[in-house]
Amino acid sequence: MDSFGRKIDYLRISVTDRCNERCLYCMPEGYKGWERKTDHLTAEEIVRVVRVAAGLGFRKFRLTGGEPLVRGDVPEIIRTITAIPGVESVGLSTNGTKLAALAGILHAAGLRTANVSLDALDPEIYRRITGGNLDAVLAGIRAALAAGFERVKLNCVLMRGVNEQELWPLALFAAEHGLPLRFIELMPLTRTDVLTEKNFLPIGDAMRLLSQHDELIPQPDCRLGHGPARYYQLKKTGALVGFIGAMTNLHFCETCNKMRLTADGKIRPCLGDHGEIDLRAALRNNDDDESLRKIFLEALRLKPLDHQFRGQYQPLRPMTAIGG
Ligand code: 5AD
Ligand code: SF4
Repeated sequence: MDSFGRKIDYLRISVTDRCNERCLYCMPEGYKGWERKTDHLTAEEIVRVVRVAAGLGFRKFRLTGGEPLVRGDVPEIIRTITAIPGVESVGLSTNGTKLAALAGILHAAGLRTANVSLDALDPEIYRRITGGNLDAVLAGIRAALAAGFERVKLNCVLMRGVNEQELWPLALFAAEHGLPLRFIELMPLTRTDVLTEKNFLPIGDAMRLLSQHDELIPQPDCRLGHGPARYYQLKKTGALVGFIGAMTNLHFCETCNKMRLTADGKIRPCLGDHGEIDLRAALRNNDDDESLRKIFLEALRLKPLDHQFRGQYQPLRPMTAIGG
């Protein structure tokens, strides 16, 4: 429990700050702030952190990046951490570009769910947002389903004037493949000029856009995974769509259940607050588990009530360096 009575049992672990894409909302253009790879936690260090966290009551874990699958040892990390007592679920957030090659291996390692970023279905728009190749992602999604993943969720970051016209095609795609689709409000995590009035599209507007095509039926009891989305079912198409209103939903943080571990081994109690506590030094110093537990509890104590995104938050570290 944190100081505000929230149960924090979800740890999102960034395994690398590197990525093979360049999403507008995640990485400033020409970004040069890359961490040294020797500063990234090793697989053994990540496993140790999960063991300690599970001992403290963390139950849900997610590997993120950057793009986690640019690291070769992710299947091995998954295989090891899914077997740790107390670990109830292990997920992966990915851009999907490497899933076609890796879905079978990840499934064999014990992975059953993945969240795939999909901001557009038009290849040109997709390229404009991510710099990458849409076909690779679509092949990755198909491969994950063919490999037997129980759930693949899609993530779409809302950007006015960039992908508004893609929301309905994405909903149709989600319905056709039976995949839950989440629309996420843009948070100020790259350059300061990315989050402007002009390109910010609130979830309320996204809902209005979709309701021009289909009726949204609230699913107040729907909880998919452990995230903060509010779900609706589209009446005609059957698509399940979620909305993550980190900016406009003033109650967003009330149900927060997570902390983050950055690729360079810092516990970040809140995505939208600069506070971080170093765990890596203790890991590299071979400190005992009790010392690691103390660091976790200190991070928990520092977890703020709310994120700072509505204030004067300046993105010192972009999303790619924190972990999505
Ligand atoms: N604002 C909102 N969502 C973001 N993501 C990455 N950067 C941002 C941002 N600035 C989302 C992507 C990815 C997930 C892990 O985080 O949709 O799928
Ligand atoms: Fe890479 Fe994901 Fe960031 Fe896009 S959002 S640059 S895919 S880590």
